Amino acid sequence: MADNTTLADKIAALKREKNAVILAHYYTRPEVQQVADFIGDSLALSQAAAATDADIILFAGVYFMAETAKVLSPGKKVLIPDPAAGCSLADSCSAADFRRFRERYPDHKVVAYVNTSVEVKALTDICCTSSNAVKIIRALEGQKILFAPDRNLGDYLKRVTGRDDIVLWDGACHVHEKFSLEKILELKREHPDAKVLAHPECKKPVLLAADFVGSTAAIIDYVGSDGGKKYIIVTESGILFELQEKYPEIDFIPAPPTDSTCGCNDCEYMKLVTLPKIYDALVNESPEVVIDEEVRRRAEGSIRNMLGMSK
Ligand code: 13P
Repeated sequence: MADNTTLADKIAALKREKNAVILAHYYTRPEVQQVADFIGDSLALSQAAAATDADIILFAGVYFMAETAKVLSPGKKVLIPDPAAGCSLADSCSAADFRRFRERYPDHKVVAYVNTSVEVKALTDICCTSSNAVKIIRALEGQKILFAPDRNLGDYLKRVTGRDDIVLWDGACHVHEKFSLEKILELKREHPDAKVLAHPECKKPVLLAADFVGSTAAIIDYVGSDGGKKYIIVTESGILFELQEKYPEIDFIPAPPTDSTCGCNDCEYMKLVTLPKIYDALVNESPEVVIDEEVRRRAEGSIRNMLGMSK
């Protein structure tokens, strides 16, 4: 097996040869982020997927993200290095169950977090990500709303927008649900000068203890504009790579999950994306994301509605 440096060089050569682009989420491994052409949060990645003129998009992230890229760029080949890279939120909401749920609220606008399957997006009016969800809910003033699948993000949206009539699906992110308020308060006592920055998929008590709540990109931007020297980071640990790269002089303390012995909170699905799998996927142009055209077309409407409202 070649070492990582050699693999990174080979991946760069394959990208040039095949006019391929690598899009990576902030939660992926550091060495994966290093070979990416673009690193971002869910919204920025979907915007990059819609805008690229590459022939091949290799999506270094989880399955629903690669599906979104394929929906937006149907003429391109979209590769996913490991199709087993799933998402507990997407898995909590099957299209069949969601269709039945939606039928109970026929006069509601359906807003779905992008962390859903393409089949659920096809049953959705407007998608959202953690960086545009508040804006999208506010834009639907006066309309009844059904929000799926993240109950924690949904609950946060209710609090921030004052819309306590929003109907919620009962799903959650297995990584963000594991953060422990007690451990965060312990860290706060140890580091009283540190601010707590949390992702809105965390549970309510954690969010109430945070100084700032935002998407991965919003957390990174907040650090850039805040001027602080120390932050407790309450989201998946992959984000630490970009934070340390961008702000080497700042101290970042990862918040541990309840059951932690190592102190970090990893998404095992994101960590399935490795350099050898990226290399193999580029060589073989497989595994490829394939979507039924009728489903793709219906899902595209809900994603384009989101992109139109995110400018
Ligand atoms: P953002 O990319 O919007 O921060 O959310 C990441 C995510 O999918 C968390 O599960």
